[in-house]
Amino acid sequence: MTGRALVTGGAGFIGSHLVDRLVEAGWRTVAVDDLSTGSYRNIRHLLDNPKFEFVQGSVLDRDLVGRLVSETDVVYHLAAAVGVQLIVDRPLQSMITNIRGTENLLEAAATRRAKILVCSTSEIYGKNQNGPFKEDDDRVLGSTRKLRWSYSTSKAVDEILAFVYHRELRLPAVVVRLFNTAGPRQSGHYGMVLPRFVGQALRGEALTVYGDGMQSRSFTYVADVIEAMMKLMATSEAEGDVFNVAGHGETTILNLAEMVIEMTGSSSSVSFVPYDEVYGDNFEDMSRRLADTTKLERVTGYRCETGLKEIVASVIEHLQEVQLAG
Ligand SMILES: NC(=O)c1ccc[n+]([C@@H]2O[C@H](COP(=O)([O-])OP(=O)(O)OC[C@H]3O[C@@H](n4cnc5c(N)ncnc54)[C@H](O)[C@@H]3O)[C@@H](O)[C@H]2O)c1
Repeated sequence: MTGRALVTGGAGFIGSHLVDRLVEAGWRTVAVDDLSTGSYRNIRHLLDNPKFEFVQGSVLDRDLVGRLVSETDVVYHLAAAVGVQLIVDRPLQSMITNIRGTENLLEAAATRRAKILVCSTSEIYGKNQNGPFKEDDDRVLGSTRKLRWSYSTSKAVDEILAFVYHRELRLPAVVVRLFNTAGPRQSGHYGMVLPRFVGQALRGEALTVYGDGMQSRSFTYVADVIEAMMKLMATSEAEGDVFNVAGHGETTILNLAEMVIEMTGSSSSVSFVPYDEVYGDNFEDMSRRLADTTKLERVTGYRCETGLKEIVASVIEHLQEVQLAG
């Protein structure tokens, strides 16, 4: 199936890979992005492609969103203030972007009856210590006074809005919860750990590990995430539902730092930085975050299989190219 697709946040890390894949699959694709954390560089190679259009604008612009959605068949809503660091640094704008922006998209999609995918996050599970997480597991969050939880909360509001639009207005909406997605084009500027480590290793600086580095994560390759999202959008069984999208390996952050040093051949060392120096007092992190992806695999037949070494290698290659390009 092809037609017209709209990707919000289409100049961002995941959005730009999605745009590449949609265009390649024959979709006439419009990317809208305000370039706040995304970059023109991520989509520049597509600008001469007749199947692609870039619109610089904000998902907070309700009229623009209404117009763009009225001209499309499917919507992938990825635009957001992303990550804990950005939310802690710019909380008001981040909450507005994540909640009002999603409301605008859902409202317009309901008017047009366009199918929509809403991008959520594993932060939804908060500091729940159990896992691997199933989609219906409990959310365990700290105080509303701790800004760290506002990212999780803003995305939870997005999810609930998508579910009720589906329930009450029959909007074909699908929600995905992404877990530490990584790959080329991800920026290290907003606290994303892998590009930050690779950048530090390539510059010969110490790799800054927050806390004791024993917290573990599973990383998912960006191309796997996109494949999963497109497969979910192609099946009506996914509508009104939420899916974990994640890889399966697990590594501690300290291990990841050591792997990056080895794979880049860098002489960098590791330096440990207390959480409160990075995020302020009383920061709470979770020690593990693993996904149960049974539901995704059952509905799509797809499993995110790319291993960590391959993911790290792709980020090193990309950042080396960026360095060479100056
Ligand atoms: N990368 C991850 O590990 C991860 C994990 C969980 C969830 N997610 C979700 O995936 C989506 C994409 O994230 P990403 O990692 O590609 O980050 P990103 O920052 O590269 O992408 C977000 C994009 O949205 C754009 N944007 C922000 N505010 C906007 C606005 N008001 N109007 C239009 N565009 C706006 C940014 O410029 C950027 O291009 C987000 O919804 C994020 O919450 C990502």
